[in-house]
Amino acid sequence: MIDLLFENNKAWSLAIQQEIPDFFERLANQQNPDYLWMGCSDSRVPANQIVGLLPGDIFVHRNIANLVIHTDLNCLSVIQYAVDVLKVKHIMVVGHYNCGGVKAALDGVEIGLVDNWLRHVQDVKQKHIALFEQLSTEGDPYNLLCKLNVMEQVVNLCQTTMVQAAWKKQQPLMVHGWIYQLNDGILQDLEITIQKTEEVSMKYKAALGKVAIIL
Ligand code: CO
Repeated sequence: MIDLLFENNKAWSLAIQQEIPDFFERLANQQNPDYLWMGCSDSRVPANQIVGLLPGDIFVHRNIANLVIHTDLNCLSVIQYAVDVLKVKHIMVVGHYNCGGVKAALDGVEIGLVDNWLRHVQDVKQKHIALFEQLSTEGDPYNLLCKLNVMEQVVNLCQTTMVQAAWKKQQPLMVHGWIYQLNDGILQDLEITIQKTEEVSMKYKAALGKVAIIL
């Protein structure tokens, strides 16, 4: 099984070099991505492929249920490096429907250590409990929580000291909230694109209002 991966790798490297002969040479010297992708670890949601970008084009952080937690040094370090050093112009929080992490959080399944991580998703549900209570019988609580989770993480991201500092010094930086559909490979924009501190609350409320309408 592992040998196959090395074979695949050789074939992939050759194919890219046939198309762009100096591709790896150029990349080896520097990376200059315009995007930071904050996504779920789910194997079905690979950042580069979904948006058709090559190595070097997108800086990526993934964790279970695409969470931006204010005390997560790993996540914060990625954001800081992307904003302060790479000077990315866009950060997208990308959730996906049928997220196993979100489902486990909603169902309250006991898995182990990860339950503590998923507690953050349960907190999102608790914050919006009224929306879940209003949900019609045909409504899907899993997909609702997937969307709300992205919106909350977008706000968390906007509130980090790095993003706040970038906006304060007028550094161009847009934060987006997207959701990916596993069944057709399509990304949806949740229309919570924010590019300055003053917009955070307004855009969040507007996006939340739209979610409430389709319940
Ligand atoms: Co997921």
